[in-house]
Amino acid sequence: MARLQIDAISKTYGADYAVREVSLDIADGEFMVLLGPSGCGKSTLLRMIAGLEEPSSGRILLDGTDITEVAPQRRDLAMVFQSYALYPHLTVAKNIGFPLRARRRPRAHIAERVAAVAKTLELSALLDRRPGALSGGQRQRVALARAMVRDPGAFLMDEPLSNLDAKLRSATRAELIALHRRLGATFLYVTHDQVEAMTMATRIALLDAGRIEQVGTPEELYDRPRTAFVAGFLGSPPMNLFPAVVSWRAGGLRVLSDGIDAALDITADSGDDSAVLAGIRPEHLRIDSDASALRGRVTMVENLGSEELVHAAVGKHILCARAPRPAGVRVGEDVGFRVAPAHIHLFHPDSGLRLTWQEQSTRRPGALPAGAQAVSS
Ligand SMILES: Nc1ncnc2c1ncn2[C@@H]1O[C@H](COP(=O)(O)OP(=O)(O)O)[C@@H](O)[C@H]1O
Ligand SMILES: [Mg+2]
Repeated sequence: MARLQIDAISKTYGADYAVREVSLDIADGEFMVLLGPSGCGKSTLLRMIAGLEEPSSGRILLDGTDITEVAPQRRDLAMVFQSYALYPHLTVAKNIGFPLRARRRPRAHIAERVAAVAKTLELSALLDRRPGALSGGQRQRVALARAMVRDPGAFLMDEPLSNLDAKLRSATRAELIALHRRLGATFLYVTHDQVEAMTMATRIALLDAGRIEQVGTPEELYDRPRTAFVAGFLGSPPMNLFPAVVSWRAGGLRVLSDGIDAALDITADSGDDSAVLAGIRPEHLRIDSDASALRGRVTMVENLGSEELVHAAVGKHILCARAPRPAGVRVGEDVGFRVAPAHIHLFHPDSGLRLTWQEQSTRRPGALPAGAQAVSS
């Protein structure tokens, strides 16, 4: 059992916040991923949970018990680092058993645990080797085995796959997902890689500049980003984001910008204009030569093998559309795009918060069409 509660944790270095008032409730057995750009505070947060860094303020609870002041080795947590930090002069077996020897467990118990964990991670044949004679993926598995040998309530991992090549990274991702299922333990996993986060997480906490931008399932963050930052961070290529105006036209609301005039899925009788930041994912821009809402000129076509990315100048914007190959357009050609109203995201131009539109019936006549209301999540 390991439920981790992070309660308003902050860490300052001088006047700068590395982590700012972060609260997070991680349920027993979750695979929670801390995701965010380099320098956003992920490692600092994880190290505070592990006890390797002292918080400036806030509390950490493990199964309801305050462990903020508890020494790292007395927390029921195991940490796996990006660099495997294996002892080069010790065999794989000795490396794996190290945490148990440090705790002076009986020899027979250590041998039994090492054998069991090695079997789980398919390391049994490598127990007599030294780390120097292992591949990167094998070393990573030894580091994992060393973390598992104590049977901790929760695993803390800081970018454990970032030293592996692409193929091995994807194989190890699958292994970690299977391992999580099998162990049923709580995983708290740090990465800046959105693919790792999307594929492995039961929930993602997306951080920016020391703060949490959004916590939710991968689908929630991708489909309903709470802020423009989340919208722009998740997705490759990223969401097209552009300043626009929401305006009432002949019974419906439309999103207008240079070269763009697209219907929104909102009905309104009348209203004033509202400035917004509009967003459309590349996969939601459909190429259609008859489309009139968005028209532009193709500036680049990228062949990804199964798909093509079509970049087009629409007014002063460059938009990117993702289409099955062949997309059937060439550089320099005029092109039209369609987008379903439900696939247009709108954000407040200053706060970046996702906007929702009030139901027509609840609005006063003549009020802002938008009643532009920031969703609180
Ligand atoms: N020991 C330290 N002294 C001063 N600043 C630090 C220290 N450790 C981290 N920082 C700063 O805190 C911020 C967050 O760092 P970190 O947690 O390592 O980010 P991430 O793991 O997301 O890349 C960065 O701006 C970093 O420069
Ligand atoms: Mg880091």
